[in-house]
Amino acid sequence: MENTSTHRDDIVRESYSARSQEYADLFGSVTSTHPTDRALVSSWAATLTGPVLDAGCGPGQWTDFLAACGPAVSGIDLVPEFVDRARTQFPDLTFEVGGFEALDAATESLGGVLSWYSLIHHSPQDIQTPLAEFARVIRPGGGLLVGFFEGATVGTFDHAVTTAYRWPVAELGQKLITAGFEVIETHTRTGRGYRPHGAITARRQSSR
Ligand SMILES: C[S@@+](CC[C@H](N)C(=O)[O-])C[C@H]1O[C@@H](n2cnc3c(N)ncnc32)[C@H](O)[C@@H]1O
Repeated sequence: MENTSTHRDDIVRESYSARSQEYADLFGSVTSTHPTDRALVSSWAATLTGPVLDAGCGPGQWTDFLAACGPAVSGIDLVPEFVDRARTQFPDLTFEVGGFEALDAATESLGGVLSWYSLIHHSPQDIQTPLAEFARVIRPGGGLLVGFFEGATVGTFDHAVTTAYRWPVAELGQKLITAGFEVIETHTRTGRGYRPHGAITARRQSSR
């Protein structure tokens, strides 16, 4: 049987590759993001010590934003077109093509991981794998910030690129706890012109 994560990654890679220019034109600058999100990422970054990984960095706009906040930062994404663009646009930063289920980072070597809307294509059955990998690479006391589509129940919807999931905050929070994190803050926001938004900041526990 085909490995489901490889199959999902192939679909995600091909879907974003086909629309990478359009995506980057729409979302490739933090100026298109909500000011509340910029404030959250910035205040979260200020709590971190050590290098930060932007996991599923897309065109790299949040990687660049994080770098301006102070920490040493790098980005990883499945989509070569995004990584090429990020490298061109932000030549002082490091970007790699790859999957965040198996990171080339030593255990407990990172101060934090930003996963901004990059777990949205993972099913409830699959999401524990990347969360466990984030828990492996983040040092005890380090931080994880997850941005996602919020909803009353877990479910899929037709995201413009490929199928995505919405999550109740408590349910996704429980996944983080299972992976070895303590939930620190949760945020939700609704408004005209965008789907309900959620964000969770979490701290890596010292023992799993
Ligand atoms: C909705 S985009 C978000 C991109 C960026 N974080 C942003 O806020 O614009 C989701 C990103 O996650 C990446 N992604 C999804 N699954 C991934 C995986 N297993 N490993 C690495 N990147 C992944 C996709 O390639 C895509 O760039």
